[in-house]
Amino acid sequence: MPTLKALGHACFALSSDTHTVIFDPWLSENPEAVIGPGDVQADALLVSHGHSDHLGDAIPIALRLGIPIVAPYELAMYCARQGADVHAMHIGGGATYDFGYVKLTNALHGSAVIGDDLIEYTGPPCGFIVTMQETTVYYAGDTGLFGDMELLGDLNRIDVAILPIGDNFTMGPDDALYAVGLLEPELVVPMHYSAFDVISQDAHKFAKRVKQVKADCTAVVLKPGEEVSI
Ligand code: NI
Ligand code: MN
Repeated sequence: MPTLKALGHACFALSSDTHTVIFDPWLSENPEAVIGPGDVQADALLVSHGHSDHLGDAIPIALRLGIPIVAPYELAMYCARQGADVHAMHIGGGATYDFGYVKLTNALHGSAVIGDDLIEYTGPPCGFIVTMQETTVYYAGDTGLFGDMELLGDLNRIDVAILPIGDNFTMGPDDALYAVGLLEPELVVPMHYSAFDVISQDAHKFAKRVKQVKADCTAVVLKPGEEVSI
């Protein structure tokens, strides 16, 4: 049975008995992080977009461990230029890895690496559907609500949906609640709601509302460092 561990903000580790993948490894500048980039052990890094709170420490971790960054093509090419091993994919495409199957999904957001005097656009952002040991996880990435989440729910038996609830840059709690109805997951894990003041939300209140709206769905709030068997 895989485990899902929160590492702060939008960073999560998904592990089977034999493999670990990390979503959006933002750690060194992350006020919620309980581990540093040097502590990470993983087989691949799944990076949804180029914003610093998601690309984060992906390149130094990938270089240290010799593991690939899985990302949309333009972002993957950016990472490759920094010397990282990459596996470029794009929205709607899937690929099988040692650890499981990964498919890139749409996300309504931006994607760029923003330097002091340069904004480098890194293509469209994405979400990920990962199937590991017969457990299917939908990691929405940074996104607004979109109707094709219903399609994702129709095409996949989603065991776990990791959804942003912070508002301002992504879905807020009301839209995330609507997304739960479209995706029909068994378990919901909120993310992206407390690292900055502007996205501050009460995740426990959201979790209670999930149960009210969808009785057969559970929401669990994971503090950084906490994990759940999925
Ligand atoms: Ni973003
Ligand atoms: Mn973000």
